[in-house]
Amino acid sequence: MNAQSPSAESTQRIFEIVTNAWISRAVYAGTALGLPAHLADGPRTTAELAELTSSDPRALGRLLRALTGVGLFRTDERGRHVLTDVGQALRSDVPGSLASLVQMELGEAHHDTWGQILHSVQTGEAAFAKAVGCDIWAFFEGDPVMNAHLGQAMSGLTAMVADTVIEAYDFGPYEKIVDVGGGEGAFLSAVLAAHPRARGVVFDLPHVVPAGAPHIADAGLSERCELVGGSFFEKVPEGGDLYTMKWVLHDWDDASCVRILQSCRQVMSDDARLLIVDTVVPEGDEFSPSKIIDLNMMVLSGGQERTAEEFRALLAEAGFRLTRIVPTRSPSSVIEAEPVSLA
Ligand SMILES: C[S@@+](CC[C@H](N)C(=O)[O-])C[C@H]1O[C@@H](n2cnc3c(N)ncnc32)[C@H](O)[C@@H]1O
Repeated sequence: MNAQSPSAESTQRIFEIVTNAWISRAVYAGTALGLPAHLADGPRTTAELAELTSSDPRALGRLLRALTGVGLFRTDERGRHVLTDVGQALRSDVPGSLASLVQMELGEAHHDTWGQILHSVQTGEAAFAKAVGCDIWAFFEGDPVMNAHLGQAMSGLTAMVADTVIEAYDFGPYEKIVDVGGGEGAFLSAVLAAHPRARGVVFDLPHVVPAGAPHIADAGLSERCELVGGSFFEKVPEGGDLYTMKWVLHDWDDASCVRILQSCRQVMSDDARLLIVDTVVPEGDEFSPSKIIDLNMMVLSGGQERTAEEFRALLAEAGFRLTRIVPTRSPSSVIEAEPVSLA
């Protein structure tokens, strides 16, 4: 076949992909400088924002112009910068904020890790330790600021999807729900708020769970929701009739997932149920956010997104039977499993 010049559409598509990477860097810079926070109380001039952020006025003006073009800000009749609805999502002081997601996913450590994606592809290993010097969980444990960003980022993302999970799956029959790797409790809080009869336990690492206490109290759930610190590689709290794991298994390779699932299986009665909330990778060629999130997991932690068959096999190895997969309006699905009798 003769080599042909690529079509205009093809080169345009590649150019867009390259510039999207620059846009995400610019969004990171604007968020790290706190531009959305500085515009929270009203419009400001470039000079005022340069003063507030210790920035070069001309360079900051160019950043603002670019971010205005992508919809974070607009310019008023006096030439001042105004926060748009999209920009509001990057104020750190609003419920459901994604400011911490941007600070974490586009920040130095994660960005440097993505810079090592070739290492992951060629070795099959996570790139985080090569880029940052330790594995991702040691990084969060050793850096309270980034650990807080992780908690807030997960809560922000949870605010986007919790309702879609609650409307897709009936939590009504359950009385005690244990959310394993539940972070700061945003997901369990939403489930308990929708099901006033249920009680719950948020289980996560000992340096993570304390941050959940004020959120649980603010939601008026302190009486119905307990916070327990520990590791799911050792022991998971007993007594739940439902065990949930949202965005947990995708952090881990198969062998680690089997250990986590077995920890759950060990404390579950035969009547209890397990719910995994994760994306399910479609088998076809189509674009799916799951296929991109999968690469993020590959470089960051050595985890992965999984197909339905991969979930079925993983669950079987740990003593569960996959009973159904319930899609939601968000990219995440609910994967339900029941224990296989340990007889
Ligand atoms: C991607 S976050 C998901 C958090 C939460 N389920 C959510 O959807 O927002 C993964 C969680 O697993 C927790 N985790 C990691 N290692 C753990 C361990 N050994 N035992 C318990 N939790 C762990 C992390 O602290 C983090 O909160």
